Amino acid sequence: MALSISADALKPLFLLLLLVYCLGSSTVLSVESDAEKLPKSDVDLVEFPLNLEYLEAEFFSWGAFGQGLDKLAPSLARGGPPPIGAKQADLSPIVKDIVAQFAYQEFGHLRAIDKTVPGFPRPLLNLSSSTFATFMNDAFGIALDPPFDPYADDINYLLASYVLPYVGLTGYVGTNPKLLSPTARGLVAGLLGVEAGQDAVIRALLYERALVKVLPYGFTVAEFTDKISDLRNELGKAGLKDEGLIVPPALGAEGKISGNVLAGDEFSLSYGRTPEEILRIVYASGKENKPGGFYPKGAGGKIAKSYLE
Ligand SMILES: *[C@@H]1O[C@H](CO)[C@@H](O)[C@H](O)[C@H]1NC(C)=O
Repeated sequence: MALSISADALKPLFLLLLLVYCLGSSTVLSVESDAEKLPKSDVDLVEFPLNLEYLEAEFFSWGAFGQGLDKLAPSLARGGPPPIGAKQADLSPIVKDIVAQFAYQEFGHLRAIDKTVPGFPRPLLNLSSSTFATFMNDAFGIALDPPFDPYADDINYLLASYVLPYVGLTGYVGTNPKLLSPTARGLVAGLLGVEAGQDAVIRALLYERALVKVLPYGFTVAEFTDKISDLRNELGKAGLKDEGLIVPPALGAEGKISGNVLAGDEFSLSYGRTPEEILRIVYASGKENKPGGFYPKGAGGKIAKSYLE
């Protein structure tokens, strides 16, 4: 008797627990089915930028902390091989602090993409000084002597960084109109906002130093950015989508100003790039089917792999 009374008394509590449990698991199920409901083309387009997010996560994390995903957030690497040649950069406290924030932002981006699409393991990344040195030599059309070292100091690291988030930014701008689902569009808009912000911070820090000579070379910071942007335009093979920090006024905002702290088209809208254009640039080969540069074995995901077969 006493037992049945106390069981009755527990019934409402039991029902409540059951309800909470069901609500909890149905939320999880509905998140999963949202991801499954993404059209296949959205899944491929949202997975592609993982390549750049992995690259930026490792470059910024190593630059600021001297450690990458394998130490700081191992599950995010998903068993991919460790990057080649990444190291801690010799940075001033303020730049180091900013780069540390970028690193954690990239970790967040990896989590956000992983949450939405199946994703793929970190591809092999070549972040050795010589990858950047080769990129700069190609940009200037001469062998810089000594070879450019991205990890040497603030200016060099910021110039090396100038190479990365902007490419991600143009990718997100190019992807957005192709997405079919609100889930994918919302994610890409959120990623684009922060990538664009990172690019703006890098450009603003460099703009303050635009006329400073990059030592021991005779070229200014602005000249480096012009050359890097020219090279990306050339590799992308899709016209003008990249502009340095100081441009002929015709290329500035409203065709009226040569300071170019942000890049934009004739209406000051961000340029967009296709995955093919991005692969040509980050492979440094000008060919979406010829890996190299930052991705010695090619990028991951269906879109990039389709060119490797
Ligand atoms: C990394 O890049 C440098 C410069 O291009 C190259 O010399 C080196 O062989 C690359 N490493 C791998 C494993 O691809």
